[in-house]
Amino acid sequence: MWGPEGLDEVEAELLGPPEELKGRDVLELGAGAAQCSRWLAAQGARPVALDISHRQLQHALRIGGPVPLVCADAGALPFADGSFDLACSAYGALPFVADPRLVLREVRRVLRPGGRLVFSVTHPIRWAFPDEPGPEGLSVSGSYFDRTPYVEQDDDGRAVYVEHHRTLGDRVRDVVASGFRLVDLVEPQWPAWNTSEWGGWSPLRGTLIPGTAIFVCVRD
Ligand SMILES: C[S@@+](CC[C@H](N)C(=O)[O-])C[C@H]1O[C@@H](n2cnc3c(N)ncnc32)[C@H](O)[C@@H]1O
Repeated sequence: MWGPEGLDEVEAELLGPPEELKGRDVLELGAGAAQCSRWLAAQGARPVALDISHRQLQHALRIGGPVPLVCADAGALPFADGSFDLACSAYGALPFVADPRLVLREVRRVLRPGGRLVFSVTHPIRWAFPDEPGPEGLSVSGSYFDRTPYVEQDDDGRAVYVEHHRTLGDRVRDVVASGFRLVDLVEPQWPAWNTSEWGGWSPLRGTLIPGTAIFVCVRD
C-alpha cells in the first residue's frame, strides 16, 4: 500500500510487472512492521526490511514471515554496493530525515545499475493545511515554503517526533542531485470505495487536494 488513499502495488505496478518481481533483491526502507516486504516475499521477491526503530521491527517479528529484518539508519545502509535490484518505501525514513540526499545517495549506492527506487511521502502541498479531516483542513494555515520542521517534544524538551518538509521542487532536485532519473510522479486520487477517516485523512480532503506523492526513480 503506497498511502492512505489505498493505492496498492497490485494496481499501481510501480516496481514493475508483478511477474518480474520473482527473484529480485528488494530493499524496503522505513519498513515499520514490514507489511510491504511480506507482500513482496509472497510474489517471489527477496526483500530485506530495514527500519531504524527496534520496536517497529519487533512488531514485524511478532507477525512473522520469511523476511530478513535489519535495524539501521537509512542514511548509513549496512550493505555492499550494488546489492539490490529494487528499493521501495511507503512513507518510510525520507519524511523524517533532515538530509534526504544522504538517504537517496545511499540507496543509489546499494542499487544495481538500472535499479529502481519507488518511495511515497505526504504530498508537500499538505504542509500548508491543518492536519484535520473536516472542512477546517481545507483552508491554508501556513506557508508551503516554510521548511521549519514539525517537532513534538517530551516534558524534558527532547524531540520525540520530527517531520521535515520539502517542496515538490525540493524533492525533484533531491532525486536528480542524488544520481537518479525521475520517471514518474504519481498523485493518487482518493477512490470512491475508500470511506475511512484517519488523522487528517478523509474522503472530503482526499477528493479536493492530493495527499500522497509517489516518486518513481531509476538509477541509470
Ligand atoms: C510512517 S512509518 C511507515 C512504515 C511502513 N512503511 C508502512 O507503510 O506502514 C515510518 C517508518 O520510518 C522509520 N524511519 C524513520 N526514520 C528512519 C531512518 N532514518 N532510517 C530508517 N527508518 C526510519 C520509522 O521508524 C517508521 O517505522
